[in-house]
Amino acid sequence: MSKEKHRNSFSGSIGFVLAAAGSAVGLGNIWRFPYLAAKDGGGLFLVIYLILAVTFGFTLLTTEVAIGRKTKQSPLTAYGKVKKGWGFLGVLACLVPVIILPYYCVIGGWVVKYFMAYLTGEGTAAASDGYFTGFITGEIQPIVMLVIFLGVVAFIIFRGVNKGIESSSKIIMPILLLLVIGIAVFSVTISYTDEAGVTRTGLEGLRIYVVPDLKGLTVKGFFSVLLDAMGQLFFSLSVAMGIMIAYGSYVKDDANLVKSINQIEICDTAVAFLAGVMIIPAVYTFMGREGMAASGPSLMFISLPKVFAAMGKAGNVVGCLFFAMVLFAALTSAVSVMEAVVSSFMDKFHMSRARAAAVEAVIALAGGLLVCLGYNKLYFDITLPNGASAQILDVMDYISNNCFMPLVAIGTCILIGWIVKPQVIVEEVEKSGCSFGRRRLYIVMIRYIAPVLLVILLLKSLGVLTVI
Ligand code: ALA
Repeated sequence: MSKEKHRNSFSGSIGFVLAAAGSAVGLGNIWRFPYLAAKDGGGLFLVIYLILAVTFGFTLLTTEVAIGRKTKQSPLTAYGKVKKGWGFLGVLACLVPVIILPYYCVIGGWVVKYFMAYLTGEGTAAASDGYFTGFITGEIQPIVMLVIFLGVVAFIIFRGVNKGIESSSKIIMPILLLLVIGIAVFSVTISYTDEAGVTRTGLEGLRIYVVPDLKGLTVKGFFSVLLDAMGQLFFSLSVAMGIMIAYGSYVKDDANLVKSINQIEICDTAVAFLAGVMIIPAVYTFMGREGMAASGPSLMFISLPKVFAAMGKAGNVVGCLFFAMVLFAALTSAVSVMEAVVSSFMDKFHMSRARAAAVEAVIALAGGLLVCLGYNKLYFDITLPNGASAQILDVMDYISNNCFMPLVAIGTCILIGWIVKPQVIVEEVEKSGCSFGRRRLYIVMIRYIAPVLLVILLLKSLGVLTVI
């Protein structure tokens, strides 16, 4: 029996869709999407994101899942199997999750800390000035939280594709979706009167979120929104980081890829949208328009705790549910990031799963320690080529997200669009007898539109292109 026959596979389409959606729905959806939407004119960003999701995102997602299923290999070895001489792209695709996992687990540790704070009724303390900075600059606690989070991720990976990844996703994802919907509904029903006597409601906040704000929109501004949406899509759909190739390699040959990919796209986009419904109306109600300018860590770990504190007694419960939800989202994503590396080690170096998981856990721990030290002993503050100020975490995020991921995606478009030709992917998708509805769109996207957009995105990230 060949080695490929021994490869694990998801037990069915539901297992694959939940695992892949679990990978896609992560910190990116919750802390970056709502902020970008608020910054980029609300509804305008949403419309552009939606159009890109069903064209650009769909193209990259389909390509990676199909490459995985066709080669039955993880990212490190899959590209070389698609075309001899292209193994270098696999190395780059595998490097991305190696860089992402350490800092993703550090942030996962921050979420554990906040979840525990709300669980033990310390929500008010968590909202006080200096709590977050005090915590991340501490020497011991962030490391302990990192070890807890990474330990759980490594344990799930150690249990394997079915007993680990698939079973945990089947439990976590339905709870996650219920929490997201519940908190979103709560957020639009609240209202608050501040000290100046001004009353703001969640519904008003929702309107700000969904109604396009086209005031003063220029061509340059439009391109900026487009590139923001595109950069966000990458991270959000977990493409260009090897994950979808690894997960695709566990999909059975008779599975309907078209249907599964549609479901993954819908789930990821719906949760990103609902994250905005959870966060924007709540922040607007309690902090006004100024509060909506916060992004990333400061939105999640500074602004939102203040919002929960302003809710009074209910705030502790809402905060607890919110951070439980973020924890679930971060966990299933971190699992997929780790699996991309572990499966690569297994395929390339013929390691056992336990050994590969142990090696990657040690690498992630070492990198994570470095990230934690970046807020105290190794602190520095540099300006990145895209103008952002950065510590070690941001540098790692910039290298993976802004440099390597566009490069992997451009390489993938060239390989599939021009070297082996899109028909290879079309045949893989149609292998199970399903019809590839967006086939023509796929071919045009992978050959022409996606690579051009990606090159523009890369040049902008590198600070080379400043006119847009
Ligand atoms: N797709 C994952 C996220 O959005 C990595 O966080």
